[in-house]
Amino acid sequence: MVEVEPLTPAIGAEITGIDLRDIDAETADWILAKLIDHKVVFFRDQELDTEAHVAFARRFGALETHPVKPKEGFPEVMVLHADGDHPPACTAYWHSDVTWRPDPSLGSILYAREVPPVGGDTLFANMEAAYEGLDDETKALIEGRYAIHEFEPLRRTLIASGADEERIARYEEKYPSVRHPIVRAHPATGRPSLYVNCLFTMGIEGMPIEEAKPLLERLYAQAKKPEYQCRFRWRRHSVAFWDNRATQHYAAADYFPAIRTMERVTIEGEKPLPYCGADDGNA
Ligand code: OGA
Ligand code: MN
Repeated sequence: MVEVEPLTPAIGAEITGIDLRDIDAETADWILAKLIDHKVVFFRDQELDTEAHVAFARRFGALETHPVKPKEGFPEVMVLHADGDHPPACTAYWHSDVTWRPDPSLGSILYAREVPPVGGDTLFANMEAAYEGLDDETKALIEGRYAIHEFEPLRRTLIASGADEERIARYEEKYPSVRHPIVRAHPATGRPSLYVNCLFTMGIEGMPIEEAKPLLERLYAQAKKPEYQCRFRWRRHSVAFWDNRATQHYAAADYFPAIRTMERVTIEGEKPLPYCGADDGNA
């Protein structure tokens, strides 16, 4: 029997009774609907080899290849590994993924291959609730505004993974700064969410940095409210599938020097549209 158990009223649900190796189109649609409802869905005890992980993700769209740490032979799989010699990397910040892309991902499916005995939880925040919770004055300040997002922060991850300067320069050329609406409309529901994050957002278009910085800090702080969050305790072979368009996440870096190995497959998204049909400024 398939069951859905919410983690908190705001976000997250654990789904039981489904083997992710064996789903039909109807089940995939149902999972997508639960994802949009709960923003992140979790599955336990899934026996996925890399092919099965990739095949499950493909049910939801075309897959991205990430420039950092692809798995040998599987360009769509990103490996996140930490151990005594490799401390947890730059995921211990509230962020949504790849907002430095013009069309950031729909979502990611993260699979736990090896987890610490304790620690290494991932926290998720509902950015629709985060937007809703802003006061009216702040909502008015950001209405119709765009923020600038950059690839630059991944530079240190690339350096740590041994990339040479030339390769890094190539990526920087390939991924110039992009602008996204600060308040994004969800492509499936039209609901507004706060779409800036402290990892990749660099400023607000047309606003002096002295003014933008404190405003952005206030917006980033919204993700940190426990009322908008859930916290997932991993076990080996757990799966988290998040809607990257309406959430942020934070990987707690509290388990060094224990080993934690995760694999992520990411589904392509689309160009974020502003909430309220505000003019996108490209006219
Ligand atoms: C990611 C990420 C979180 C984690 O895969 O995008 O931020 O818990 N990972 O490893
Ligand atoms: Mn991430």
